[in-house]
Amino acid sequence: MEKTLSIIKPDAVKKSVIGKIVDRFESNDLRVAAMKKVQLSEADAKAFYAVHSERPFFGELVEFMISGPVVIMVLEGDNAVAKNRDLMGATNPKEAAAGTIRADFADSIDANAVHGSDSHENAKIEIDFFFAQREIV
Ligand code: CMP
Repeated sequence: MEKTLSIIKPDAVKKSVIGKIVDRFESNDLRVAAMKKVQLSEADAKAFYAVHSERPFFGELVEFMISGPVVIMVLEGDNAVAKNRDLMGATNPKEAAAGTIRADFADSIDANAVHGSDSHENAKIEIDFFFAQREIV
């Protein structure tokens, strides 16, 4: 079974759609193997998104990710990385296919409701960043 990391971002937490988003995963055979609600620090957000540190949007991305609590999950299932990305839709909600999480719940490319690992390798790195092994069950 493959695992991936999912973050419900501050915009979606503020809109009280945590349950609706988790339902998308559970209804599509992605099991919640770990879950916690966290207020990220600036250092957390900078470290997690370090791969984007040279991009022009890095500062806004970090500010947005610390603007309120997030819900962080490990999702498990067949082809979990690709399946999660299909369910999320395109990064920019204006380009996201109808029926995807971002089409239904996101407002902008920054406030885009969810993050999901983009590869099996990054999923492992991202899961290890947020969770101890004993928290994944
Ligand atoms: P996420 O999947 O969390 O990964 C990095 C985030 O940067 C992305 O979602 C967007 O919310 C944000 N972002 C802002 N501008 C851009 C951009 N031009 N290209 C990609 N990601 C962007």
